[in-house]
Amino acid sequence: MNYEGRWKTVKVAVEAGIAWVTLNRPEKRNAMSPTLNREMIDVLETVELDPEAQVLVLTGEGESWTAGMDLKEYFREVDASPDVMQERIRRDASRWQWQLLRMYSKPTIAMVNGWCFGGGFSPLVACDLAIAADEAVFGLSEINWGIPPGNLVSKAMADTVGHREALYYIMTGDTFTGQQAAKMGLVNKSVPRAELREATLALAAKLLDKNPVVLRNAKHGFKRSRELTWEQNEDYLYAKLDQANYRDREGGRAKGLKQFLDDKSIKPGLQAYKR
Ligand code: COA
Repeated sequence: MNYEGRWKTVKVAVEAGIAWVTLNRPEKRNAMSPTLNREMIDVLETVELDPEAQVLVLTGEGESWTAGMDLKEYFREVDASPDVMQERIRRDASRWQWQLLRMYSKPTIAMVNGWCFGGGFSPLVACDLAIAADEAVFGLSEINWGIPPGNLVSKAMADTVGHREALYYIMTGDTFTGQQAAKMGLVNKSVPRAELREATLALAAKLLDKNPVVLRNAKHGFKRSRELTWEQNEDYLYAKLDQANYRDREGGRAKGLKQFLDDKSIKPGLQAYKR
C-alpha cells in the first residue's frame, strides 16, 4: 500500500514487512499537536489492517523523535477552547499515545533518533521495544515550564525505570542520553546514531521471523500481568495460550513440536521453528 502524502503530520512507508511511521513536523521538533494526535489514530488503525505491515517502527523526522506535547497548539490554544473540546483533545492524545499502541496487534519498536521530551514518554513506553541513538536526549521537562507530568508520562516511568531515577528526572527536569536510557531500562539498547536504522532493522527481522499470533498473545499476556493477581494471571495467560492456538492459522505449535520431536531439525532453545 502506498501512503505517500496521505497524512499532513505523519509519514508512513511500508517496506519489506516494516511500517516506518515517522512523526513529521521537523520544524517544530515533531511536537505532538491536536492534528498530529488525530492523524496518528488514523495511521495506527490503518496500518493495523495492512497485511503487508508486520512490524511497526515509530520514529521522528530530522533531529527529534518528539519534543513532547505541542506547548502552543495542545496547551495554550486549547486552554481557551470549550471544556468539551479539551476533553476530546486529551482523549485523542491518549488514544494513540498509549491505548492503541500499548495493546497494538502487531509488534512495535520506538526508534528514538533524537530529542524525546515530556509527553513523548507515553508512546515511547507504550511501544513494545525501543532502541535509541546514543546521542538522543531525553527529559521530563514539564517541571521546567510549570506543570507536573500529565497523561501517562509518570506511569510510563514507573513501569520501566526504578523509583529513585524516575523521581530524580521528574523532579529536576535534568536531561539524559540514549546510553543512560538504556542503562536504566527505559529503552532496550542504544547505538551510535549512524547505526540506528540498521540496529532497528535487525531487531525487526527477528520479530518478522516469529509467528505473529503467538507474538501478539505473548506481549499482551505480559503487559496485562502487571495488573492482575497471580490467580487471575494464571487464568489469563492460559486463556491467551488457548486463544493463540485457536487463532493461529499456520499451526505453529504443531509445526514447532514436529520439527523438534520428530524431524529433529530445530532446537527451540536456540532457534524458531521454520514457518
Ligand atoms: N511545543 C511547541 N513547539 C515546539 C516544541 C513543543 N514542545 N518544541 C519545539 N517547538 C518549536 C519551537 O517553538 C520552535 O518554533 P519556531 O521556529 O516557530 O520558533 C521550533 O519548534 C524549533 O524549536 P527550537 O527550540 O528552536 O529548537 P532547538 O533544536 O534549539 O531545541 C528542544 C530543541 C527540543 C530542546 C526545544 O525546542 C525544547 O526545549 N522544546 C520543548 C520541549 C518540552 O519541554 N517538551 C515538553 C512538552 S510536554
